[in-house]
Amino acid sequence: MSSLSTNKERLSTSKEICARESEVLAKTQKLPYCPIAFKSGKGALLYDYEGKEYIDLLASASSANIGHGNEEVADAVREQMAKLAQFSIVYFSCKEPVEYAEKLIELYPGDNNKKVLFSTTGSESIDAAIKLVKGYTGRNKIISFNGAYHGSTFGAISISAISLNMRRKMGAMIPDVHHFNYPVCIRCPYGKCEESCNLECLKEIETAFSLYLPPEEVAAIFFEPIAGDAGIIVPPKKYVQALHELCKKHGILFVVDEIQQAWGRSGKFFAIENFDVEPDLIVMGKSSGGGLPMGIVMGKSEIMDSLDAPAHLFTMSGNSTVCAAALKMLEIFEREDLVEQSRVKGEYFKNKFLELQKKYPEIIKDVRGLGLSIGVDLCDKNTTTKIIYECQLNGLVLISLGESTLRVQPPLVITYEQMDKSIEIIEQSIKDLIDGKISDEALSVINGW
Ligand SMILES: Cc1ncc(COP(=O)(O)O)c(C=O)c1O
Repeated sequence: MSSLSTNKERLSTSKEICARESEVLAKTQKLPYCPIAFKSGKGALLYDYEGKEYIDLLASASSANIGHGNEEVADAVREQMAKLAQFSIVYFSCKEPVEYAEKLIELYPGDNNKKVLFSTTGSESIDAAIKLVKGYTGRNKIISFNGAYHGSTFGAISISAISLNMRRKMGAMIPDVHHFNYPVCIRCPYGKCEESCNLECLKEIETAFSLYLPPEEVAAIFFEPIAGDAGIIVPPKKYVQALHELCKKHGILFVVDEIQQAWGRSGKFFAIENFDVEPDLIVMGKSSGGGLPMGIVMGKSEIMDSLDAPAHLFTMSGNSTVCAAALKMLEIFEREDLVEQSRVKGEYFKNKFLELQKKYPEIIKDVRGLGLSIGVDLCDKNTTTKIIYECQLNGLVLISLGESTLRVQPPLVITYEQMDKSIEIIEQSIKDLIDGKISDEALSVINGW
């Protein structure tokens, strides 16, 4: 106790905060990148405890699409907290969650015969969706994809396939989950290109349906419309449409995990809108609560009403304060046309990375993405680690995905000047690397995924 309080009094620099953090927070909560602690933020800028400024290319893992330090959202939260912070909607009713649900339904592709189920995180909402698809179809089997990250609750872990640490020491998962290859065209296992592609990876599912996986027992396919943590992989439109058709053919529900890609990230409100497909259920989280914890499942009313209470409810879910924050955020999204901003700025930023690729083809191998959801593949893991470390030291919050993909997902309010400055910092890091000026220190600090 005494050593902790001594630490508290000393706690004033980023490094000290990070050191204290490792003493008191469980290590499974951390994918270490750089010992920086943030004190405040404004728009796409962040400030650490030394007052150093950073441009944020991570948006708190795509959960701060509206940017940091938004006064209007803060006022809405303050006002709601003073009036009635929350009263559980499990037992009585409040206006704010009803209003938020009504607005979300208007955003859903297709008709308005939809309903909403609130949770507090993306992962919990994935669990909700798993329960709902089983409840509605009476089927037990689930299909998802290699490389998928759907979250950390037991259901979400069961349908994820991205890290052995999400399985080790945990024992049984939920049964009957079947993983298939996501269409990663840049590394097509069939050696096909866009012209020669016959959707061979989709045929893997069809083969399974004819040999060992009875399609009439499959409740749902869970699909990330852009595979986020696998490296911001955008699937071909014809694949997504064919997958959706396959679902319809067999009465399988098509569930999209929009936790990372919704809220304009891809230049459309929902990433699935890029593929002209209407999913049966959409799962959201991250940016959905205007900076407060919020998870959402929404979709066709008959599916949403297929379970009775208390099959999936949480005391604090959809509470008035988080919904007040979310409603204000939605108002700002519409007023500022942030979805369109993401599309236009995304084009600009992607082109800047493509220009950089032309200059450094031996370092930058691929640039891809939609809107402000951009993945930039570098040549190898050590290069990537050194470059992101150097960028962080030079005022750019930038992390990697997989072995060597830069994750470029800034708040949608990032300015053109900030995008230009980010490119300058990345280019300088590349030059420093080529000149042998970056030490190996980064390799021992950053563990990442
Ligand atoms: C695609 C996707 N699904 C699910 C999740 C889990 O969301 P949460 O961390 O809010 O539980 C994440 C989080 O990174 C995600 O990116």
